[in-house]
Formats: sequence, structure tokens, C-alpha cells
Amino acid sequence: MDKIRVRGGNRLKGEIPISGAKNSALKLMAASILTSDPVMLTNMPRLADIGAMADLLMQFGVNLNIRRGQALGQTDTMRLHAEKIDSALAPYDLVRKMRASFQVLGPLLARHGEAKISLPGGCAIGARPVDFHIQGLEALGAKIHLEDGYVVATVNGGLKGTTFTVPRASVGATENVMTAAVLAKGRTVLKNAAREPETADLGAFLNAMGAKITGLGTGEIVIDGVDSLHGTEYAVMPDRIETGTYAIATALAGGEVELVGARVDSNNALYRLLRNVGTEVTETNRGVAIHRNGIRPIGADVATDVFPAFPTDLQAQFMALMAVADGVSHIKETVFENRFMHVPELARMGANIKVHGDTATVTGVERLRGAQVMATDLRASVSLVLAGLVADGDTVVNRVYHLDRGFERLEEKFQGVGAEVERISA
Ligand code: EPZ
Repeated sequence: MDKIRVRGGNRLKGEIPISGAKNSALKLMAASILTSDPVMLTNMPRLADIGAMADLLMQFGVNLNIRRGQALGQTDTMRLHAEKIDSALAPYDLVRKMRASFQVLGPLLARHGEAKISLPGGCAIGARPVDFHIQGLEALGAKIHLEDGYVVATVNGGLKGTTFTVPRASVGATENVMTAAVLAKGRTVLKNAAREPETADLGAFLNAMGAKITGLGTGEIVIDGVDSLHGTEYAVMPDRIETGTYAIATALAGGEVELVGARVDSNNALYRLLRNVGTEVTETNRGVAIHRNGIRPIGADVATDVFPAFPTDLQAQFMALMAVADGVSHIKETVFENRFMHVPELARMGANIKVHGDTATVTGVERLRGAQVMATDLRASVSLVLAGLVADGDTVVNRVYHLDRGFERLEEKFQGVGAEVERISA
């Protein structure tokens, strides 16, 4: 398996193009099967997870083509055409590889009236059940039972609008229920709905296909069912987690980087925090500029939570920054119960971090040391690349598979701003 080698010590300077958001693109692809017309998605990120969703959709009978952008910053365009659905089976092997596969359940039920999807099971960052998804779809009238590790769902006489309160404002459950409700009879009200920008992006895409959804980006989403949806062309929103990762990388390594295409409003919690720890964040007409001079960052406390609070998907990266900050920081993880796998790896690089329950106490050290490291989820893996930027000597991040799931052309983007990050092919 490939590895990434990072040689620490360089300041970053220049610009990084931000890709389309993985966690929006995957859901837009799944929702494209709601219509028998072709759908064009532009600003698509080139990632292993996108390939996995493409494989799944092709198995349902979707005709799928990709036009590749060549240079860094030129993005892919995907055409999806679900003229008819041949199969509604999402097998274990595909769902196990990527939990987002479960997001085909709502669209399949709405379009095809039945689906058989493998239960995703637990994963490295926590138990991650799908009970809220199932409760919401049952509230719309689906009949669901479990059989040999599969969720078997059918609809008799069509889905019917309902009022459903999403427990814990789950992103995936809100999206699965929303994508089913667009073709239900009557009005669906989703209370305590996810307010994440990717969920709003999915809703805007559905509206572009002819859906009637209001309240996107708020805790109450109202969906008036329509008889059918039509094709459209839609640009995936910029990836706020990729943006935040490069913003934190610049705060760590020092220097000045413009994140081209980034949206300020989707990362306000991070930018507030970066300013507090001594980084300049400026909106530019092309995106966001991050600037930090040679002064050491200051320790700060943070708790992850649902949007607009600080995102769990940036927790590991922020911890890498706090590992070299001046002072003690407390980082609390409230979204997933086991998302500190980067802690022992950062410790191998010399970080001083103690975990008690859901909180990590980070006592900043002046220097980290390069080491062989590995992590079991993609955000944890990238936090080790970030730590490597300021470590003495070389850091080798193993199991690059995880990075390829969620970071497009990571090494090229870092090289473009002067970091020594390279892929070592196995
Ligand atoms: C999405 O996961 C993202 N994934 C995650 O990004 C992200 O960390 C998460 O939202 C939170 O922002 C995609 O969009 C593909 P949830 P999701 O349902 O939808 C519990 C990454 O690195 N829960 O909001 O699975 C659950 O266990 C990934 O890109 C239930 O108990 O997140 C968790 O503790 C990682 N029952 C909490 O709710 C359910 O039925 C929030 O999960 C559903 C969720």
C-alpha cells in the first residue's frame, strides 16, 4: 500500500484550489436516481469514495460517465442517468467499504418502492447505528425489517408525508428521509433536522430537480411532495473540511496561503478559533486567506458539535495544531464516541495528550519528531500529515488508502505551497 512521507520544517506560501465536498457529492450522486432524466454534477471531487458510490449506482443500472479535469484545480464532471432501476440491492462488500452507501435507501424507496441494503455496522470512529434513518422512513410509511444483516424496505401504495423529529440532528438520517419525502404524497416536516451545509446543498440540488423544500440550513425542513423530479445540472459546494484542513495546516506550519474557492460562511467556528490562537483569516474575492507569522500558536479549548459549532471532522487536525501550541488545551468530542485514534499516533511524534472519556487534554510541546504512523480513519490520517509539517525529520503516514478516500491530490496540493509531502508507491 502507498505511503505518504512528510519532511517537516517548511513554511507554506501560495494558493490551494479547494475541491468539491465529498460529503455533499456522495449524497447528490445517490439522489440522482430519483429521476429517470440525466443529471450533470460539476465540481466533483476525485476520490476513492466517489468511485465506490459510482460502483454501487452502476450496479442499480445507472449509466454513469465522468469527464476528468486535468490540471490541479480543474474538476471532474459526472453525468448520471438512472433511466430505469434494474436492481435495488446494496451488498455488504460495498456498504462495508463506505457507510455513505446507506444513503441510497431513501432515493431507492421513493423511486423504486423497495430496497435491500446491507447494514453498515460499526466503524472505527464509533458504533454509528442507522436506527434514526429507519424510524424516519417508517414514519413515511415504509415497511422495514432486518434479514441476514440486510435492511429490507418496501412501500405499499406510496410514501406519505409526515412529521418526524430527527433524534440528535443526524446528518445521514435527515438526508435519507428528505430524499424519500420529496416524492411522498403531501407535506413532510423534519424537526431537529441537520443544519450542515452539505444537507442544505443536497436540498438545493433536489429543488433544482423540481422538489419543493424550504427551511434548508435550519432545524425545521419542510418538504412538499411532488409527483416526479427532472434532470438538472448542479455544482457541488466547496469542501469545508478540506478547506479547514489546509487552513489548520497553514496555522501550524506558518506562512500565507489562499484557499481558492473556499466559502467563509461554512467554517466560521474554525475561523473564530484560528483567530483566537493567533492566525489571521481574511476573506478574499476568490476564497479565504490564512496567514501566521513565526509566533507559536496559543492553546485553546474546543468542543465538537453539530453545525454551526466546530465540526467533528476537523477535531483531529485541530488537535495536531494544539499539540505544538503554547499552553494546555481541552478538546471535547461530542458527536462520535471513539474519535481519538490519532492520539496514540500523535504521541509517537512526541505530543503530550491525555484522554479522559470524551475529552483530550493537550499540553503543547515546542517540537514534534518525525515517526512512522498510521490511523484508521481519514481525518485522523490527515492530522498526522499536518503534524509532520512541523516535526523534526521525516514522518511516514502508512495506510494512505484512508487519505485517498477524502483528500483529492493531497500531496500535489501541499507541494504547490512549498511543503515536502510525497507519495511513496508500494
Ligand atoms: C456524516 O456522517 C458525515 N459523513 C461524517 O463525516 C460526519 O462526521 C458526520 O456526518 C457528522 O457531521 C457523510 O456525510 C458521508 P450523523 P453521519 O448521522 O451522517 C449517531 C467523514 O470523515 N446516530 O450525523 O453518519 C451517530 O452514531 C465522515 O467525512 C445514531 O445513533 O453522521 C453519531 O454519534 C466521518 N443513529 C451521531 O448520531 C442513527 O441512525 C451523528 O451521526 C444515526 C446517527
